[in-house]
Amino acid sequence: MTQTSRDLDQPSSAESSLPFTGPWLLAPMEGVTEPVFRELVLNRNGAELLGGAFTEFVRVTDHAIPTKVLRAHLGEARHEAPVGLQLMGADLEALALTARRAEEAGAPLLDLNFGCPAKGALRGCAGSATLTDPARVEATVRACSDAVKNIPVTAKMRAGYEDDSLLEDNVRAAEAGGAALVTVHCRTKAENYSPVIDWTRLSRAVEAATGPVCGNGGVRSHRDLERMREETGCQYVMVGHGALADPWIFTGTEVDSQTAASFLLEYSERLVASGSSTKGSVQRVKQLIVHWSAGGLCEDRDSWLKERDHEALLGRLRALSRQ
Ligand SMILES: Cc1cc2nc3c(=O)[nH]c(=O)nc-3n(C[C@H](O)[C@H](O)[C@H](O)COP(=O)(O)O)c2cc1C
Repeated sequence: MTQTSRDLDQPSSAESSLPFTGPWLLAPMEGVTEPVFRELVLNRNGAELLGGAFTEFVRVTDHAIPTKVLRAHLGEARHEAPVGLQLMGADLEALALTARRAEEAGAPLLDLNFGCPAKGALRGCAGSATLTDPARVEATVRACSDAVKNIPVTAKMRAGYEDDSLLEDNVRAAEAGGAALVTVHCRTKAENYSPVIDWTRLSRAVEAATGPVCGNGGVRSHRDLERMREETGCQYVMVGHGALADPWIFTGTEVDSQTAASFLLEYSERLVASGSSTKGSVQRVKQLIVHWSAGGLCEDRDSWLKERDHEALLGRLRALSRQ
C-alpha cells in the first residue's frame, strides 16, 4: 500500500487494539504531564479529538517499580481518553515485572521510551541509547508485551541516535517485539530539541511499519495536526511543546485572555490541592508561561517570569480571569 493510498480514517487491525478515542495525543513530558496538567488538558479537548495522553516517563533501573508509585503516576481520575503509562529502562526483568504491575494498577496501555536524550538514561543504556541496537529495541518491547495480558504495548522513539540510518530497522524491531503502535519523534538524539524538523522521516517510518505510526515533532498549530497526517501518512499525531503553548491546540479553539488566565489559575490551585506548596505550584505555572501563547496572555512574558512574589503573580491571574 502506498502512503498516499493509505486510508487515514480506517483503523488497521493492529490499530483497533489501541484504546485511543481520537487521532491526536498529548505527549509524555517529564515535569509537566502529571495528573493535574493532563486532566486540565483532557477536560478542555473533546475525547473524539484528543484521543489519549501519557504519564511522564517512569525510570526503571534494576528493580521493579512498586505498584503504588505506578498508581500515583496514573492518578485517580479516569477519562474517556486513555492515559498510557510510560516506562524507560534497560533491565528487561525489572521492566517486565513493572509492566505487569502497571497493568494491575489499571494502566490501559503501556508505552516504552526509546527517545530520552538525558545523560542518566544514556548511562543506563536506556532511552535513545537503545536505538543503536534494533535487536535491543525488539527484546525490550517483547519483554513487556509478553509480561502484560490484556493491554497494548507501544513504543516511542526518536528518528535515531547520531543519525537516522537505523530508523526503519528500529520501527520494524519495535513491531517485531509486539508494539501495537510506534511513535516517531522526527529528531535524532544528536539533534536534541533543535529546530530541525524533518517530517520525511515520519513518511519513512510509515512505509517501514505494518501497523499504525504516530508522528511527533514540530506541531505548533491546530492546522499542523492534519497537515502532518496528510504529508506523512501517519495515523496519530502527538503534541508536546505545542500543547504547552496552547492547551486548546487539539480542538483549535482560540481562547481569550480570561480563559487562558483561568487555566493557569486552576492549574496552580489544583496542584496545591494535590499537595504542592504555593511556591511549587507557581514554579510550575511559570514553567508553562515560558512556552505559553494562548489568549495572548504572555506577550509580556518577561514580566510574568521575573515576578518573584508568588501571591502577586496569582493576583494578576485572578484579576485577568475575572475580566
Ligand atoms: C519538558 C519535556 C519533557 C519531556 N519528557 C518526555 C518523557 O517523559 N517521555 C518521552 O517519551 N518524551 C518526553 N519528551 C519529548 C516529547 O514527548 C516530544 O517527543 C518532543 O517534545 C517532541 O515533540 P514536540 O515538538 O511536539 O514538542 C519531553 C519533552 C519536553 C519538552
